[in-house]
Amino acid sequence: MKNSEILFVDDEKELLLTVDEFLSQRGYNITVVDSGLKALELTKKRRIDVLITDLKMPEVSGIELLKAVKEQQPKTEVIILTGYGSIETAVEALKLGSYDYLQKPIKLDRLKALIDRILEKKSLKEENLFLKSRLQERYRYDELIGASPKMQRIYEIIDRVTLKSPTVLISGESGTGKGVVAKVIQQNSDRKDKPFISVNCGAIVEGLLESELFGHVKGAFTGAVRDKIGLFRVAEGGTVFLDEISEMPPHMQVKLLRALQEKEIRPIGHTKEVKVNTRIIAATNRDPEELVRSGALRKDLYYRLNVVSINISPLAERKEDIPLLISHFIEKFRGSEKEFGNKVSPEAMGVLLDYDWPGNVRELENVIQRAFALGVSEEIEVVDLPSAITKRGNENPKAALNTYSLRENEIILIKKALREARCKKSKAAKLLGIDVSTLYRKIERYEISDKALQIANV
Ligand SMILES: Nc1ncnc2c1ncn2[C@@H]1O[C@H](COP(=O)(O)OP(=O)(O)OP(=O)(O)O)[C@@H](O)[C@H]1O
Ligand SMILES: [Mg+2]
Repeated sequence: MKNSEILFVDDEKELLLTVDEFLSQRGYNITVVDSGLKALELTKKRRIDVLITDLKMPEVSGIELLKAVKEQQPKTEVIILTGYGSIETAVEALKLGSYDYLQKPIKLDRLKALIDRILEKKSLKEENLFLKSRLQERYRYDELIGASPKMQRIYEIIDRVTLKSPTVLISGESGTGKGVVAKVIQQNSDRKDKPFISVNCGAIVEGLLESELFGHVKGAFTGAVRDKIGLFRVAEGGTVFLDEISEMPPHMQVKLLRALQEKEIRPIGHTKEVKVNTRIIAATNRDPEELVRSGALRKDLYYRLNVVSINISPLAERKEDIPLLISHFIEKFRGSEKEFGNKVSPEAMGVLLDYDWPGNVRELENVIQRAFALGVSEEIEVVDLPSAITKRGNENPKAALNTYSLRENEIILIKKALREARCKKSKAAKLLGIDVSTLYRKIERYEISDKALQIANV
Protein backbone atom coordinates (compact mmCIF):
# COMPACT_ATOMS: atom_id res chain seq x y z
CA MET A 1 0.00 0.00 0.00
CA LYS A 2 2.85 2.30 0.88
CA ASN A 3 4.16 2.30 -2.66
CA SER A 4 0.79 2.75 -4.34
CA GLU A 5 0.36 6.12 -6.00
CA ILE A 6 -2.79 8.11 -5.38
CA LEU A 7 -3.69 11.22 -7.35
CA PHE A 8 -6.41 13.60 -6.15
CA VAL A 9 -7.77 16.23 -8.56
CA ASP A 10 -10.12 19.07 -7.65
CA ASP A 11 -10.23 22.79 -8.35
CA GLU A 12 -11.20 23.49 -4.74
CA LYS A 13 -7.88 24.37 -3.11
CA GLU A 14 -9.10 23.96 0.43
CA LEU A 15 -10.39 20.45 -0.20
CA LEU A 16 -7.01 19.54 -1.71
CA LEU A 17 -5.21 20.61 1.44
CA THR A 18 -7.57 18.71 3.73
CA VAL A 19 -7.40 15.50 1.74
CA ASP A 20 -3.64 15.76 1.32
CA GLU A 21 -3.09 16.15 5.04
CA PHE A 22 -5.55 13.44 6.02
CA LEU A 23 -4.15 10.77 3.70
CA SER A 24 -0.45 11.56 3.98
CA GLN A 25 -0.66 11.45 7.76
CA ARG A 26 -2.01 7.93 7.41
CA GLY A 27 0.92 6.82 5.29
CA TYR A 28 -0.55 7.07 1.79
CA ASN A 29 1.46 8.28 -1.17
CA ILE A 30 -0.77 11.09 -2.30
CA THR A 31 -0.31 13.82 -4.85
CA VAL A 32 -2.89 16.59 -5.24
CA VAL A 33 -3.37 18.88 -8.25
CA ASP A 34 -5.92 21.61 -8.88
CA SER A 35 -6.79 21.02 -12.52
CA GLY A 36 -7.65 18.24 -14.95
CA LEU A 37 -4.95 19.48 -17.29
CA LYS A 38 -2.21 19.13 -14.69
CA ALA A 39 -3.52 15.69 -13.80
CA LEU A 40 -3.36 14.68 -17.44
CA GLU A 41 0.26 15.81 -17.72
CA LEU A 42 1.15 13.87 -14.61
CA THR A 43 -0.53 10.63 -15.66
CA LYS A 44 1.49 10.70 -18.85
CA LYS A 45 4.69 10.53 -16.85
CA ARG A 46 3.88 8.50 -13.81
CA ARG A 47 2.05 5.29 -12.91
CA ILE A 48 -1.06 6.09 -10.88
CA ASP A 49 -2.88 3.36 -8.97
CA VAL A 50 -5.88 5.31 -7.79
CA LEU A 51 -7.16 8.51 -9.33
CA ILE A 52 -9.80 10.53 -7.51
CA THR A 53 -11.22 13.34 -9.56
CA ASP A 54 -13.89 15.97 -9.40
CA LEU A 55 -16.38 15.91 -12.25
CA LYS A 56 -16.76 19.55 -13.04
CA MET A 57 -13.51 21.33 -13.75
CA PRO A 58 -12.56 23.91 -16.34
CA GLU A 59 -10.50 22.83 -19.41
CA VAL A 60 -10.38 19.09 -18.79
CA SER A 61 -13.44 17.62 -17.06
CA GLY A 62 -13.46 14.58 -14.81
CA ILE A 63 -15.05 12.46 -17.55
CA GLU A 64 -12.39 13.49 -20.07
CA LEU A 65 -9.65 12.75 -17.57
CA LEU A 66 -11.22 9.35 -16.84
CA LYS A 67 -11.29 8.45 -20.52
CA ALA A 68 -7.72 9.55 -21.12
CA VAL A 69 -6.31 7.77 -18.09
CA LYS A 70 -8.17 4.54 -18.84
CA GLU A 71 -6.55 4.61 -22.25
CA GLN A 72 -3.05 5.34 -20.98
CA GLN A 73 -3.10 3.17 -17.89
CA PRO A 74 -6.00 0.71 -17.98
CA LYS A 75 -5.10 -0.62 -14.54
CA THR A 76 -5.66 2.71 -12.81
CA GLU A 77 -8.84 2.73 -10.73
CA VAL A 78 -10.82 5.94 -10.78
CA ILE A 79 -13.16 7.40 -8.17
CA ILE A 80 -15.41 10.25 -9.31
CA LEU A 81 -16.50 13.03 -6.98
CA THR A 82 -19.90 14.41 -7.75
CA GLY A 83 -21.76 17.41 -6.51
CA TYR A 84 -25.43 17.39 -5.64
CA GLY A 85 -27.58 16.73 -8.69
CA SER A 86 -24.98 15.31 -11.02
CA ILE A 87 -25.83 11.71 -10.33
CA GLU A 88 -26.50 11.03 -14.02
CA THR A 89 -22.99 12.00 -14.98
CA ALA A 90 -21.71 9.77 -12.19
CA VAL A 91 -23.57 6.85 -13.73
CA GLU A 92 -22.06 7.67 -17.09
CA ALA A 93 -18.64 7.64 -15.41
CA LEU A 94 -19.33 4.17 -14.04
CA LYS A 95 -20.17 3.01 -17.54
CA LEU A 96 -16.87 4.42 -18.73
CA GLY A 97 -15.03 2.26 -16.25
CA SER A 98 -14.69 4.26 -13.08
CA TYR A 99 -14.65 2.14 -9.94
CA ASP A 100 -17.13 4.11 -7.85
CA TYR A 101 -18.31 7.60 -7.07
CA LEU A 102 -18.49 9.67 -3.91
CA GLN A 103 -20.90 12.48 -3.31
CA LYS A 104 -19.68 15.79 -2.05
CA PRO A 105 -19.20 16.95 0.62
CA ILE A 106 -16.66 14.16 1.03
CA LYS A 107 -16.50 12.14 4.20
CA LEU A 108 -12.80 11.50 4.64
CA ASP A 109 -13.29 8.11 6.33
CA ARG A 110 -15.43 6.88 3.47
CA LEU A 111 -12.83 8.04 0.98
CA LYS A 112 -10.12 6.19 2.89
CA ALA A 113 -12.24 3.01 3.09
CA LEU A 114 -12.83 3.12 -0.65
CA ILE A 115 -9.13 3.57 -1.38
CA ASP A 116 -8.26 0.66 0.91
CA ARG A 117 -10.75 -1.58 -0.84
CA ILE A 118 -9.28 -0.73 -4.23
CA LEU A 119 -5.68 -1.25 -3.14
CA GLU A 120 -6.50 -4.57 -1.51
CA LYS A 121 -8.24 -5.78 -4.63
CA LYS A 122 -5.31 -4.64 -6.77
CA SER A 123 -2.72 -6.40 -4.67
CA LEU A 124 -4.70 -9.66 -4.76
CA LYS A 125 -4.94 -9.38 -8.50
CA GLU A 126 -1.22 -8.78 -8.83
CA GLU A 127 -0.46 -11.73 -6.59
CA ASN A 128 -2.67 -13.96 -8.74
CA LEU A 129 -0.94 -12.76 -11.85
CA PHE A 130 2.40 -13.41 -10.24
CA LEU A 131 1.41 -16.94 -9.27
CA LYS A 132 0.08 -17.53 -12.74
CA SER A 133 3.28 -16.35 -14.36
CA ARG A 134 5.24 -18.61 -12.02
CA LEU A 135 3.11 -21.53 -13.09
CA GLN A 136 3.79 -20.74 -16.69
CA GLU A 137 7.52 -21.03 -16.11
CA ARG A 138 8.63 -24.04 -17.98
CA TYR A 139 10.58 -26.78 -16.31
CA ARG A 140 11.35 -28.60 -19.53
CA TYR A 141 11.43 -28.20 -23.28
CA ASP A 142 11.11 -31.69 -24.70
CA GLU A 143 14.19 -33.57 -23.52
CA LEU A 144 15.78 -30.42 -22.20
CA ILE A 145 15.22 -30.22 -18.46
CA GLY A 146 15.63 -27.18 -16.21
CA ALA A 147 13.56 -24.42 -14.66
CA SER A 148 16.30 -21.94 -13.80
CA PRO A 149 16.04 -18.44 -15.28
CA LYS A 150 19.07 -19.31 -17.41
CA MET A 151 17.24 -22.24 -18.95
CA GLN A 152 14.08 -20.13 -19.38
CA ARG A 153 16.10 -17.74 -21.49
CA ILE A 154 17.29 -20.62 -23.67
CA TYR A 155 13.70 -21.84 -24.08
CA GLU A 156 12.71 -18.37 -25.25
CA ILE A 157 15.47 -18.37 -27.86
CA ILE A 158 14.45 -21.84 -29.06
CA ASP A 159 10.88 -20.54 -29.39
CA ARG A 160 12.14 -17.72 -31.56
CA VAL A 161 14.18 -19.85 -33.94
CA THR A 162 11.48 -22.39 -34.73
CA LEU A 163 9.84 -20.44 -37.54
CA LYS A 164 12.74 -19.43 -39.69
CA SER A 165 15.94 -21.41 -39.81
CA PRO A 166 18.75 -19.10 -38.80
CA THR A 167 22.19 -20.56 -38.18
CA VAL A 168 22.70 -21.11 -34.47
CA LEU A 169 25.97 -21.21 -32.57
CA ILE A 170 25.74 -23.07 -29.28
CA SER A 171 28.51 -22.70 -26.73
CA GLY A 172 28.94 -24.18 -23.28
CA GLU A 173 31.28 -26.39 -21.33
CA SER A 174 31.42 -30.07 -22.05
CA GLY A 175 28.32 -31.89 -20.80
CA THR A 176 26.08 -28.84 -20.52
CA GLY A 177 23.66 -30.15 -23.14
CA LYS A 178 24.69 -28.52 -26.42
CA GLY A 179 23.75 -31.65 -28.31
CA VAL A 180 20.35 -31.76 -26.63
CA VAL A 181 19.67 -28.09 -27.44
CA ALA A 182 20.54 -28.66 -31.11
CA LYS A 183 18.14 -31.60 -31.30
CA VAL A 184 15.33 -29.73 -29.57
CA ILE A 185 15.74 -26.84 -32.02
CA GLN A 186 15.45 -29.24 -34.95
CA GLN A 187 12.45 -31.06 -33.44
CA ASN A 188 10.60 -27.80 -33.01
CA SER A 189 11.29 -26.37 -36.43
CA ASP A 190 9.41 -26.96 -39.63
CA ARG A 191 12.32 -29.22 -40.57
CA LYS A 192 11.35 -31.77 -37.94
CA ASP A 193 10.41 -34.47 -40.42
CA LYS A 194 13.68 -34.07 -42.28
CA PRO A 195 17.06 -35.54 -41.26
CA PHE A 196 19.15 -34.29 -38.35
CA ILE A 197 22.75 -35.27 -38.88
CA SER A 198 25.39 -34.75 -36.28
CA VAL A 199 29.03 -34.40 -37.33
CA ASN A 200 31.89 -34.18 -34.87
CA CYS A 201 34.40 -32.05 -36.73
CA GLY A 202 37.20 -33.20 -34.43
CA ALA A 203 36.56 -36.88 -34.92
CA ILE A 204 36.91 -37.04 -38.69
CA VAL A 205 40.35 -37.39 -40.27
CA GLU A 206 41.26 -33.98 -41.62
CA GLY A 207 41.45 -34.96 -45.29
CA LEU A 208 38.11 -36.72 -45.20
CA LEU A 209 35.94 -33.98 -43.69
CA GLU A 210 35.32 -32.18 -46.98
CA SER A 211 34.21 -35.31 -48.77
CA GLU A 212 32.18 -36.36 -45.74
CA LEU A 213 30.26 -33.06 -45.76
CA PHE A 214 30.15 -32.13 -49.43
CA GLY A 215 30.58 -35.51 -51.13
CA HIS A 216 32.76 -36.44 -54.09
CA VAL A 217 32.54 -37.95 -57.53
CA LYS A 218 34.01 -41.30 -58.39
CA GLY A 219 37.73 -41.06 -59.08
CA ALA A 220 38.10 -37.59 -57.56
CA PHE A 221 40.96 -38.92 -55.43
CA THR A 222 42.60 -42.22 -54.68
CA GLY A 223 40.08 -44.31 -52.84
CA ALA A 224 37.05 -42.54 -54.28
CA VAL A 225 35.74 -45.68 -55.87
CA ARG A 226 32.19 -44.48 -56.23
CA ASP A 227 30.19 -41.25 -56.02
CA LYS A 228 29.47 -40.06 -52.50
CA ILE A 229 26.59 -37.72 -51.88
CA GLY A 230 27.89 -36.00 -48.71
CA LEU A 231 26.05 -35.21 -45.49
CA PHE A 232 24.90 -31.73 -46.55
CA ARG A 233 22.82 -33.29 -49.27
CA VAL A 234 21.79 -36.30 -47.20
CA ALA A 235 20.31 -33.80 -44.74
CA GLU A 236 18.62 -31.78 -47.51
CA GLY A 237 15.71 -29.87 -45.99
CA GLY A 238 16.90 -30.77 -42.51
CA THR A 239 19.81 -29.86 -40.25
CA VAL A 240 23.51 -30.61 -40.04
CA PHE A 241 24.84 -30.22 -36.53
CA LEU A 242 28.54 -29.33 -36.67
CA ASP A 243 29.89 -30.22 -33.25
CA GLU A 244 33.33 -29.02 -32.13
CA ILE A 245 33.38 -26.43 -34.89
CA SER A 246 36.77 -25.08 -33.81
CA GLU A 247 38.33 -28.42 -34.79
CA MET A 248 37.42 -27.78 -38.40
CA PRO A 249 40.62 -27.18 -40.41
CA PRO A 250 41.02 -23.62 -41.79
CA HIS A 251 40.58 -24.53 -45.46
CA MET A 252 37.31 -26.26 -44.62
CA GLN A 253 36.16 -23.20 -42.67
CA VAL A 254 36.51 -21.19 -45.89
CA LYS A 255 34.46 -23.74 -47.80
CA LEU A 256 31.81 -23.88 -45.10
CA LEU A 257 31.53 -20.08 -45.11
CA ARG A 258 30.97 -20.18 -48.85
CA ALA A 259 28.36 -22.89 -48.50
CA LEU A 260 26.52 -20.80 -45.91
CA GLN A 261 26.66 -17.63 -47.96
CA GLU A 262 25.77 -19.08 -51.34
CA LYS A 263 23.63 -21.97 -50.12
CA GLU A 264 25.52 -24.20 -52.49
CA ILE A 265 28.36 -26.67 -52.29
CA ARG A 266 30.71 -28.29 -54.72
CA PRO A 267 31.37 -32.02 -54.24
CA ILE A 268 35.05 -32.87 -54.72
CA GLY A 269 35.77 -33.53 -58.37
CA HIS A 270 32.42 -32.07 -59.43
CA THR A 271 32.50 -29.33 -62.04
CA LYS A 272 29.44 -27.43 -60.86
CA GLU A 273 28.01 -26.14 -57.61
CA VAL A 274 24.94 -27.84 -56.22
CA LYS A 275 22.21 -25.92 -54.41
CA VAL A 276 21.50 -27.11 -50.89
CA ASN A 277 18.85 -26.24 -48.35
CA THR A 278 20.43 -27.47 -45.14
CA ARG A 279 20.31 -25.67 -41.86
CA ILE A 280 23.52 -25.45 -39.87
CA ILE A 281 23.71 -25.55 -36.11
CA ALA A 282 27.26 -25.39 -34.75
CA ALA A 283 28.62 -26.00 -31.28
CA THR A 284 31.78 -25.47 -29.33
CA ASN A 285 32.77 -26.14 -25.74
CA ARG A 286 35.07 -23.15 -25.72
CA ASP A 287 34.40 -19.43 -25.63
CA PRO A 288 33.67 -18.51 -29.29
CA GLU A 289 35.20 -15.07 -29.00
CA GLU A 290 38.38 -16.54 -27.63
CA LEU A 291 38.41 -19.00 -30.52
CA VAL A 292 38.30 -16.08 -32.93
CA ARG A 293 41.05 -14.28 -31.04
CA SER A 294 43.31 -17.32 -31.05
CA GLY A 295 42.67 -17.92 -34.74
CA ALA A 296 41.02 -21.32 -34.26
CA LEU A 297 37.80 -19.98 -35.76
CA ARG A 298 37.72 -17.59 -38.72
CA LYS A 299 36.11 -14.31 -37.82
CA ASP A 300 33.93 -14.18 -40.94
CA LEU A 301 32.71 -17.71 -40.32
CA TYR A 302 32.03 -16.86 -36.70
CA TYR A 303 29.78 -13.97 -37.72
CA ARG A 304 28.02 -16.16 -40.25
CA LEU A 305 27.40 -18.91 -37.69
CA ASN A 306 26.55 -16.63 -34.83
CA VAL A 307 23.27 -15.32 -36.27
CA VAL A 308 21.67 -16.64 -33.10
CA SER A 309 23.88 -17.59 -30.20
CA ILE A 310 22.99 -19.76 -27.27
CA ASN A 311 25.34 -20.02 -24.34
CA ILE A 312 24.54 -22.78 -21.88
CA SER A 313 25.79 -22.02 -18.38
CA PRO A 314 27.74 -24.59 -16.39
CA LEU A 315 25.55 -26.61 -14.03
CA ALA A 316 27.29 -25.03 -11.03
CA GLU A 317 25.77 -21.69 -12.05
CA ARG A 318 22.21 -23.03 -12.12
CA LYS A 319 22.13 -25.43 -9.22
CA GLU A 320 18.37 -24.99 -8.87
CA ASP A 321 18.10 -27.31 -11.90
CA ILE A 322 19.85 -30.17 -10.09
CA PRO A 323 16.80 -31.68 -8.29
CA LEU A 324 14.75 -31.62 -11.51
CA LEU A 325 17.55 -33.25 -13.46
CA ILE A 326 17.97 -35.89 -10.77
CA SER A 327 14.26 -36.79 -10.97
CA HIS A 328 14.55 -36.98 -14.71
CA PHE A 329 17.56 -39.30 -14.60
CA ILE A 330 16.05 -41.47 -11.86
CA GLU A 331 13.04 -42.00 -14.08
CA LYS A 332 15.34 -42.81 -16.95
CA PHE A 333 17.50 -45.34 -15.11
CA ARG A 334 15.20 -46.97 -12.57
CA GLY A 335 13.83 -49.14 -15.38
CA SER A 336 11.12 -51.48 -14.20
CA GLU A 337 11.71 -50.67 -10.54
CA LYS A 338 8.74 -48.37 -10.53
CA GLU A 339 8.19 -48.74 -6.79
CA PHE A 340 11.50 -46.95 -6.30
CA GLY A 341 9.63 -43.70 -6.76
CA ASN A 342 11.76 -40.68 -7.03
CA LYS A 343 13.70 -40.58 -3.86
CA VAL A 344 17.00 -39.14 -2.79
CA SER A 345 17.84 -38.94 0.91
CA PRO A 346 18.15 -35.37 2.22
CA GLU A 347 21.85 -35.96 3.01
CA ALA A 348 22.56 -37.24 -0.49
CA MET A 349 20.65 -34.32 -2.00
CA GLY A 350 22.78 -32.01 0.14
CA VAL A 351 25.96 -33.56 -1.23
CA LEU A 352 24.69 -33.41 -4.80
CA LEU A 353 23.75 -29.75 -4.42
CA ASP A 354 27.06 -28.91 -2.82
CA TYR A 355 29.23 -30.40 -5.51
CA ASP A 356 30.49 -28.22 -8.36
CA TRP A 357 29.91 -30.58 -11.29
CA PRO A 358 32.92 -29.85 -13.52
CA GLY A 359 31.51 -32.43 -15.96
CA ASN A 360 28.13 -30.68 -15.81
CA VAL A 361 24.87 -32.49 -16.59
CA ARG A 362 26.67 -35.44 -18.16
CA GLU A 363 28.52 -36.06 -14.90
CA LEU A 364 25.29 -35.84 -12.91
CA GLU A 365 23.64 -38.28 -15.30
CA ASN A 366 26.56 -40.68 -14.87
CA VAL A 367 26.36 -40.46 -11.10
CA ILE A 368 22.68 -41.42 -11.08
CA GLN A 369 23.21 -44.16 -13.63
CA ARG A 370 26.09 -45.54 -11.58
CA ALA A 371 23.93 -45.62 -8.45
CA PHE A 372 21.35 -47.80 -10.20
CA ALA A 373 24.00 -49.98 -11.80
CA LEU A 374 25.46 -50.74 -8.36
CA GLY A 375 22.00 -51.30 -6.94
CA VAL A 376 20.17 -48.85 -4.74
CA SER A 377 17.61 -49.93 -2.19
CA GLU A 378 14.80 -47.55 -1.32
CA GLU A 379 16.38 -44.27 -2.08
CA ILE A 380 19.67 -42.87 -3.29
CA GLU A 381 21.84 -42.33 -0.26
CA VAL A 382 25.26 -40.84 0.30
CA VAL A 383 26.87 -44.33 0.12
CA ASP A 384 25.48 -44.70 -3.40
CA LEU A 385 27.49 -41.70 -4.61
CA PRO A 386 31.08 -41.87 -5.85
CA SER A 387 33.68 -40.91 -3.28
CA ALA A 388 34.99 -38.13 -5.52
CA ILE A 389 31.71 -36.32 -4.92
CA THR A 390 31.28 -37.05 -1.25
CA LYS A 391 34.87 -36.19 -0.36
CA ARG A 392 35.22 -32.83 -2.00
CA GLY A 393 38.44 -32.65 -0.02
CA ASN A 394 40.84 -31.50 -2.69
CA GLU A 395 38.55 -28.87 -3.94
CA ASN A 396 38.19 -26.97 -0.78
CA PRO A 397 41.14 -24.76 0.05
CA LYS A 398 40.35 -25.00 3.75
CA ALA A 399 40.63 -28.76 3.57
CA ALA A 400 43.85 -28.30 1.67
CA LEU A 401 45.39 -26.84 4.76
CA ASN A 402 45.41 -30.37 6.14
CA THR A 403 48.74 -30.61 4.46
CA TYR A 404 51.57 -28.18 4.97
CA SER A 405 53.09 -28.86 1.59
CA LEU A 406 53.34 -25.50 -0.10
CA ARG A 407 53.53 -27.18 -3.45
CA GLU A 408 50.32 -29.17 -2.95
CA ASN A 409 48.43 -26.17 -1.69
CA GLU A 410 49.61 -24.14 -4.62
CA ILE A 411 48.39 -26.75 -7.08
CA ILE A 412 45.00 -26.89 -5.39
CA LEU A 413 44.62 -23.11 -5.43
CA ILE A 414 45.70 -22.81 -9.07
CA LYS A 415 43.23 -25.48 -10.14
CA LYS A 416 40.47 -23.85 -8.15
CA ALA A 417 41.21 -20.44 -9.66
CA LEU A 418 41.37 -21.89 -13.17
CA ARG A 419 38.04 -23.60 -12.71
CA GLU A 420 36.47 -20.50 -11.31
CA ALA A 421 37.88 -18.48 -14.23
CA ARG A 422 36.58 -21.15 -16.58
CA CYS A 423 40.15 -21.82 -17.67
CA LYS A 424 40.80 -18.22 -18.69
CA LYS A 425 44.38 -17.79 -17.61
CA SER A 426 44.35 -14.02 -17.30
CA LYS A 427 41.31 -14.11 -15.04
CA ALA A 428 42.74 -16.95 -12.96
CA ALA A 429 46.00 -15.04 -12.56
CA LYS A 430 44.05 -12.06 -11.29
CA LEU A 431 42.22 -14.23 -8.76
CA LEU A 432 45.55 -15.58 -7.55
CA GLY A 433 47.12 -12.16 -7.50
CA ILE A 434 50.01 -13.15 -9.75
CA ASP A 435 51.24 -12.36 -13.25
CA VAL A 436 49.86 -14.36 -16.17
CA SER A 437 53.41 -15.33 -17.09
CA THR A 438 54.00 -16.63 -13.55
CA LEU A 439 50.78 -18.61 -13.81
CA TYR A 440 51.87 -20.15 -17.11
CA ARG A 441 55.19 -21.13 -15.55
CA LYS A 442 53.48 -22.77 -12.60
CA ILE A 443 50.98 -24.59 -14.80
CA GLU A 444 53.87 -26.01 -16.77
CA ARG A 445 55.93 -26.91 -13.72
CA TYR A 446 53.02 -28.66 -12.00
CA GLU A 447 51.76 -30.14 -15.26
CA ILE A 448 48.20 -28.92 -14.82
CA SER A 449 46.18 -29.51 -17.97
CA ASP A 450 42.92 -27.86 -18.99
CA LYS A 451 41.49 -31.26 -19.85
CA ALA A 452 42.08 -32.57 -16.36
CA LEU A 453 40.24 -29.59 -14.97
CA GLN A 454 37.18 -30.26 -17.07
CA ILE A 455 36.96 -33.96 -16.53
CA ALA A 456 38.31 -34.84 -13.15
CA ASN A 457 37.08 -33.81 -9.80
CA VAL A 458 40.31 -32.10 -8.95
N1 LIG B 1 19.22 -29.77 -19.70
C1 LIG B 1 19.33 -31.09 -19.84
N2 LIG B 1 18.26 -31.89 -19.65
C2 LIG B 1 18.36 -33.23 -19.77
N3 LIG B 1 19.47 -33.87 -20.10
C3 LIG B 1 20.57 -33.15 -20.31
C4 LIG B 1 20.55 -31.72 -20.19
N4 LIG B 1 21.79 -31.26 -20.45
C5 LIG B 1 22.54 -32.34 -20.71
N5 LIG B 1 21.82 -33.47 -20.63
C6 LIG B 1 22.32 -34.85 -20.80
O1 LIG B 1 23.71 -34.83 -20.48
C7 LIG B 1 24.45 -35.54 -21.44
C8 LIG B 1 25.43 -34.59 -22.11
O2 LIG B 1 24.73 -33.70 -22.95
P1 LIG B 1 25.30 -33.25 -24.36
O3 LIG B 1 25.94 -34.40 -25.03
O4 LIG B 1 24.23 -32.54 -25.08
O5 LIG B 1 26.41 -32.22 -23.86
P2 LIG B 1 27.39 -31.34 -24.73
O6 LIG B 1 27.29 -29.97 -24.20
O7 LIG B 1 27.11 -31.58 -26.16
O8 LIG B 1 28.81 -31.94 -24.31
P3 LIG B 1 30.16 -32.08 -25.21
O9 LIG B 1 30.75 -30.72 -25.36
O10 LIG B 1 31.02 -32.97 -24.37
O11 LIG B 1 29.76 -32.70 -26.49
C9 LIG B 1 23.47 -36.16 -22.39
O12 LIG B 1 23.21 -37.49 -22.02
C10 LIG B 1 22.23 -35.33 -22.24
O13 LIG B 1 21.09 -36.08 -22.46
MG1 LIG C 1 28.07 -32.66 -27.59
